[in-house]
Amino acid sequence: MILAIETSCDETAVALYSAESGVLASEISSQILLHRPYGGVVPEVASRSHLEVIEPLVRATLEAAGVSIRDVDAFAATSGPGLASSLLVGSSVAKGLAVGSGKPYLAINHIEGHLLSPFIGTSGGVLPSISLVVSGGHTLLVEVRAAGDYRLLGRTLDDAAGEAFDKVAKMLGLPYPGGPEIDRVAQTGDRNRFDFPRSMLKSGDFQFSFSGLKTAVRYLLPKLQPTDLADVCASFQEAVVDVLVGKTIAAARENGANLLTVSGGVAGNSRLREAMAAVCAENGVALRIAVGKYCGDNAAMIAHVAQGRWERGLVSDLDEEIQPNLSLDWLR
Ligand code: KG4
Ligand code: ZN
Repeated sequence: MILAIETSCDETAVALYSAESGVLASEISSQILLHRPYGGVVPEVASRSHLEVIEPLVRATLEAAGVSIRDVDAFAATSGPGLASSLLVGSSVAKGLAVGSGKPYLAINHIEGHLLSPFIGTSGGVLPSISLVVSGGHTLLVEVRAAGDYRLLGRTLDDAAGEAFDKVAKMLGLPYPGGPEIDRVAQTGDRNRFDFPRSMLKSGDFQFSFSGLKTAVRYLLPKLQPTDLADVCASFQEAVVDVLVGKTIAAARENGANLLTVSGGVAGNSRLREAMAAVCAENGVALRIAVGKYCGDNAAMIAHVAQGRWERGLVSDLDEEIQPNLSLDWLR
């Protein structure tokens, strides 16, 4: 049984996972309301809150699974990428527990957590696929050959998709985090009302860019009436979704893939889920989107990766440091 801790950004999360039973417990303490007055994540507020919450949350997770800390066989934590002061809290606690109990410690890459999250709770383990990871910090297209064997196909050259959602929401006066707000407001909007740019959709590669789209919304702002809000949200969301879906299916075709996966906070977007399902059905490609509770940051996805790495004999040294700027290249 593995106990994993995730504190890379603004959620404190702890999970327990075993090879036989999968996720035994997954607890999350969200800091959204703490950061909302500032319109974004404040690193010092985040690390202080992680410190306050982590110990009771570890206890609550053990209690939810009905197990004792002595039953845990290994401790894992996200070691990057993320906010340095936040990463330090989770990794220090996991290392402390590992030292105290004489059990192994595993440093886990947050992006790999998202990347493999569509396979949590599925039979057959990690399958070859083309995978879109879309979160507040990352937008990546990856060829997954097996657990630990990845090839980066493309990434965003500027803003991540979730970051674009958050920034546009802020411009429109919607609360942080903006992604779920735009998704909600867009439900009643006309997605064809405003013709926003589909940046790099036809670039022939798998890179993304969302800063031009953000600027297009900014230029439109002075001409908008309050009654246009739902249409702007729906049209903006459609532009993001068109690019994500177009590039992902093109990558699947080019690589002859028969499975697509989508993960990360933006994978919770209702229009993205709907459009991905439609395009996969049209193209005869199977689709696995991370289930809702594993789209946003959580520790179950960290424990899931840790379990796979542990089975492959990949434990970490206790002097392995956090890596705030960790990229996917670190994965192996
Ligand atoms: O994976 P995540 O929790 O944290 C990172 O690793 O970044 O992703 C958070 C991002 C935020 O930008 C948030 O606005 C976005 O995911 N998000 C959404 C939705 N739910 C969360 N974006 C669009 N539609 C949603 N329903
Ligand atoms: Zn994340």
